[in-house]
Amino acid sequence: MDFFSYQNHQLSAEQVAISDLVERYGTPLFVYSRATIERHWNAFHNAAKDRKHLVCYAVKANSNLAVLNIMARLGSGFDIVSGGELARVIAAGGDPKKVVFSGVAKTELEIEQALNAEIYCFNVESQPELERISAVATRLKKIAPISLRINPDIDAGTHPYISTGLKENKFGIPIEKASDAYQYASKLPNLNIVGVDCHIGSQLTEISPFVEAIDKLLALIDNLAEQGIVIHHLDVGGGLGVNYDDETPPLPDAYANAIVERLGNRDLTLLFEPGRAIMANAGILVSKVEFIKETETKNFAIVDAAMNDLIRPALYSAWQRIIPVIEKPQVALANYDIVGPVCETGDFLGKDRELAIEAGDYIAVRSSGAYGFTMSSNYNTRCRAAEVMVDGVQAHLVREREQVAQLFAGESLLPE
Ligand code: LLP
Repeated sequence: MDFFSYQNHQLSAEQVAISDLVERYGTPLFVYSRATIERHWNAFHNAAKDRKHLVCYAVKANSNLAVLNIMARLGSGFDIVSGGELARVIAAGGDPKKVVFSGVAKTELEIEQALNAEIYCFNVESQPELERISAVATRLKKIAPISLRINPDIDAGTHPYISTGLKENKFGIPIEKASDAYQYASKLPNLNIVGVDCHIGSQLTEISPFVEAIDKLLALIDNLAEQGIVIHHLDVGGGLGVNYDDETPPLPDAYANAIVERLGNRDLTLLFEPGRAIMANAGILVSKVEFIKETETKNFAIVDAAMNDLIRPALYSAWQRIIPVIEKPQVALANYDIVGPVCETGDFLGKDRELAIEAGDYIAVRSSGAYGFTMSSNYNTRCRAAEVMVDGVQAHLVREREQVAQLFAGESLLPE
């Protein structure tokens, strides 16, 4: 559930009318709802309350400092994939001691940065990475807490670009090599084995692939215990899907309960790395209809947001709901492709949408809080959008709209 709704035909975020925000901040504009973020985060936290656990929000979904700060105030942990994300977490008041560091190729510098910040754990994805972390830790005379990301070879049944737990994917250590990898890690200097980790994909709408993966990991954990390697935490990754259209993904408590059930009486702290499930429906992208263009075969609504602002439709053929900011019962419904100004046919936000809109109106692309702004770019030398956080009756500008001069500030001409 989220806090975007119509009040007197006006789309609102909590108690703030989107049309007011558009007047103040212009478009394209990302608008987030604090109450929605807190509600979603708490859904995970409360679902696992009877077990030792840590919700490590996946920063890549939305890394705005205000978003991270809201999570930090809730006591959240963070799942990061770069030194940049670690810097953001710290700048937002997050606790580095609750950070897990995922990703297939952490650089020496990033490992050093993370060791100095005393993060909770490195999620290690390969043997060479184990060796690199061990070497950096030895040089710095520190002990690196590690977990191995296991690839359980499970079909998550999701889009191939965001499926990560199959043998052919680049992620993690194959389950059949896991035991040897742990033995190897146990012999490397300056490493402390603390966990087992997996992440099988994103936008999963069924519980069964998660449970299948966890059963494999629990069997591994039991097997490691027999070899004298004690695992303290199980990190189940992220991946819980959301409702974009008519999907019916399990709610966080059903998902967490299914996992908790499998743990039995094992003494394991449970880590979750949700990104999308917290943020997707906590944000919208608001855009102005510049022109209506009618052709022989189609009607286009050309809007001022484009694939550089929201690439999911172009990249994954993702479907996100598009609704008017002001409902106009007097305007006739028509079928539109909602397209942006970028010079590519793939530049669309939605196709075949029934909308009652006219030029000059505003539309909102729902479910844009996750993998929206963070995947945006400056393609076509377009400035990235502004971001606003609504909190009850208040709205805070949490990222200024980029200015053109910023875009080429680091560039230079050739010498004469
Ligand atoms: N943990 C790890 C190690 C991950 O790689 C990811 C996402 C997550 C957690 C969070 O997954 P979530 O709960 O958000 O599903 N750009 C794509 C999604 C890419 C997900 C990448 N990894 C999209 O817009 O659909």
